[in-house]
This record gives sequence, C-alpha cells and structure tokens, in this order.
Amino acid sequence: MSEVGRRSFLRGALAGAGAAAATGLTVSADAAKSTSVPFHGVHQAGIVTDQQRQAIFASFDVIAANQTELTDLLRTLTDRARLLTAGGALPPLGITAPPADSGVLGPDMPGDDLTVTVGVGASLFDDRYGLKDRKPAKLTAMKEFPNDSLDDSLCNGDLSLQLCASETDTVLHALRDVARHTRGAMQLRWRVDGFQSPPRPAGAPRNLMGFKDGIVKPASADHDKLVWVGKGNGEPAWTEGGSYQVLRQIRMLVEFWDRVSVGEQENMFGRRRDSGAPLDGSSETDLPNYPADPTGGAIPLTSHIRRANPRTADTAASQFLRRGYSYDKGTDAVGDLDMGLLFCAYQQDIARQFEAVQTRLADEPLVDYIRPVGGGYFFVLPGVRDGNDHFARSLLG
Ligand code: HEM
Repeated sequence: MSEVGRRSFLRGALAGAGAAAATGLTVSADAAKSTSVPFHGVHQAGIVTDQQRQAIFASFDVIAANQTELTDLLRTLTDRARLLTAGGALPPLGITAPPADSGVLGPDMPGDDLTVTVGVGASLFDDRYGLKDRKPAKLTAMKEFPNDSLDDSLCNGDLSLQLCASETDTVLHALRDVARHTRGAMQLRWRVDGFQSPPRPAGAPRNLMGFKDGIVKPASADHDKLVWVGKGNGEPAWTEGGSYQVLRQIRMLVEFWDRVSVGEQENMFGRRRDSGAPLDGSSETDLPNYPADPTGGAIPLTSHIRRANPRTADTAASQFLRRGYSYDKGTDAVGDLDMGLLFCAYQQDIARQFEAVQTRLADEPLVDYIRPVGGGYFFVLPGVRDGNDHFARSLLG
C-alpha cells in the first residue's frame, strides 16, 4: 500500500473507533431503531434473517500491508457496520473535517433493516498475512463447472460484503460509507446490485424468468446441520458460528427464454409459472411426490427442482439455504439485455452441498438459457458478539 493510502486508511480506522464508542449515545431516534436488524449475535445477520428487497454484493482485494493493518480493517468494518445498521445520526468528525457521511439518507439515518454481512475468500489465507494454517478447511477458490463462461474480473476476491436493506439508497449509502472508511486497506474487485420483486400476486417473489423463486428453504430446526459451521465439522475452532457463502452471477438469456412456450418453460423448472406449484400439485407450498412419479410423467426427471433436490435420504444432506437476488445491468456491447440472478447460497460444506447440487444440475435443459459469468466462494465470519467484539477476532486475536 502507498504511504498516502495507508495514512488515509488509518485515519478512517481512528474515526471508526471514536464513532463506535459514541454509538450508544447517538442512536436516539426510536423511529430509526424500530427498523433495525440487531447487529450483535452468535451468527451474522443477513443469512437466516428475513430477506430484504435491495442488495449489493461486493468483493474486494485486500491491500493492507500486514496482519496488524488487516486487523484494523476488520475493526473498522465492524464499527461502520454497527453504526450503519443501528441508524440515527452519525457522529460528527469535527469542524474542520468533511461531513460524517454522504448525506444520501438525510441527517437522521433510518435503519431500513440494513444488514452488513462479511466473508473472507481463500486468497486471504495466502502468504501475505500469516494466516495460511488458519484457513477454513473447505474454503477454495470458486470451481469452474461445465457450461460456465467465467470472466476472471467478476470472480473471487479476498473479502465479500453483502449489504441488504429495504431501500436502494440505504445499501448505496452503506457501500459508500464502508468504501470511504476502508480506503487504502481494500479495493473493489467486482460488484453486483440486486433486487427482489414484491410478491406477484402472493407467495414467493418471481425471478426474471417469470417463475416464483425461493419457495423451498431448509427448516430453522435444520440450520445447525445445513447452514452453520459448528463443533465436529473438522474446522479450525475460530470458524464456529460462520457459514460458507457461494455467490454466482448467472446471466439469463432472456431474449431466447421469452420465445419458449410456457409448457416447455414449466418442464424445465418442474413448477407452474402462474402459481409456482410443482407440476403434480396445485399450490406453491405443495411438496412434489417423486416416489409416485418414478418415470417423470408429471415432473420431468431432468427438471431443475427434481435434479437439484431429488428428496431422497441420500441427498438430504446436500440441501442449503438460498438467498438470491435478481440483477439488471442494462445492455451489453451488442445491445442484448444484461440481467439475471445473483445466486447466493449459505451452507456448512461447499463440496457436500452446493457442488453436489451443481453437479446434479450439469446439462439440465435450463443451461441453454442461463450463463454463469462470475461469483466466488467465501467463508462468512462468525457473528460479532457485543460492543467489545469485532469481525474475525477469533481468527486474528
Ligand atoms: C439463473 C439460474 C437459476 C434459476 C433461474 C433458478 C430458478 C429456480 C426456481 C424457479 C426454483 C423453484 C422454486 C424454489 O423452490 O425456489 C428453484 C429451485 C431450486 N434451485 Fe434454482 N435456479 C437457478 C440456479 C440454481 C443453481 C446454480 C443452483 C445450485 C447449484 C440451484 C439450486 C436450486 C435448489 C436447491 C432449488 C430447490 C429445489 C427443491 O428443494 O425443490 N438453482 N430454482
């Protein structure tokens, strides 16, 4: 890192520390508090908490010079996340300093259900920061699968930030605030802005292929088995309470998709387009009955839902939690619409869960209409317990 960069980052870290000390005093507005998601906890918010409508997924290259600066970076991220998620007025930085924030949300920042969820990539455990022997056991760079068209500039990264809130300006405000306070310690590598549609007309929201998406989720009673890393998972002790995050930027070839008959579309997913019901049922919450349909007469054997989750005893442990968002990036260089799904999945073990499912989905009929172009694997850190704790304390001390 350059001297100038380092100095400006350290200033940010100091301002962050001062701000954190003042948190309890500055968050006074009940209105702001009432829409806040609690920041402290055993697990980070933004995983099993209710999915908000707006999101930014950002991946960063860490440029901190050494482990001490990396720790400062994670403390600063903690301080900013704590302040931003609580809402209320941000503490002033002093009369000669620039304003405390961009002002995008006005003087009394709403909580807007903001969550700030931080993960680390396998590359952070290379030889730069002395963390080689502390890497989460199952963390690797993202694998390339058949049918992928990955662009390296849209893949991987040292640190991932998932910002979710009820409003677009709130996630943008949070990104600007974090970028400002961590300048000189990390820089943006790629970013995808996402949104979730309101129920149309009810139930799970629809994706940009017109189908209800996010219907099936693991029960909360299964989160310890499927989502959280805990004791007995063969992981370093510091990882307890974290989760593996898989991000995939999957472009939808909507010009082609919009010319396919509804019947064919439904056979590709295995669900009705209007109601979201499985093809052997009548409502979106009905469970598909595969044993009663062994040859796929009702729900094709090649359909997305049947391949992804065949609902057998053998495949039960490969289920995971999806928390994806639609994205719209305008048009590409040849005038085609550039939109799709920012697939986001949380799990205990990427090979046992995401990779097993992705392998079953290889060459499914849907592959002609989608194109994975980017993403990454990250380990989402354990939660920040209280006002004295910070992100990655169990990793960095
Ligand atoms: C653009 C790409 C994709 C689209 C449009 C898509 C769409 C859908 C839709 C409409 C459903 C049914 C509704 C629901 O249960 O949410 C579904 C289910 C599911 N998808 Fe995808 N999906 C995509 C990519 C993926 C990928 C990459 C994976 C994992 C490797 C995946 C795994 C699953 C799973 C596990 C289910 C639930 C199946 C069940 O339990 O019945 N999907 N997806």
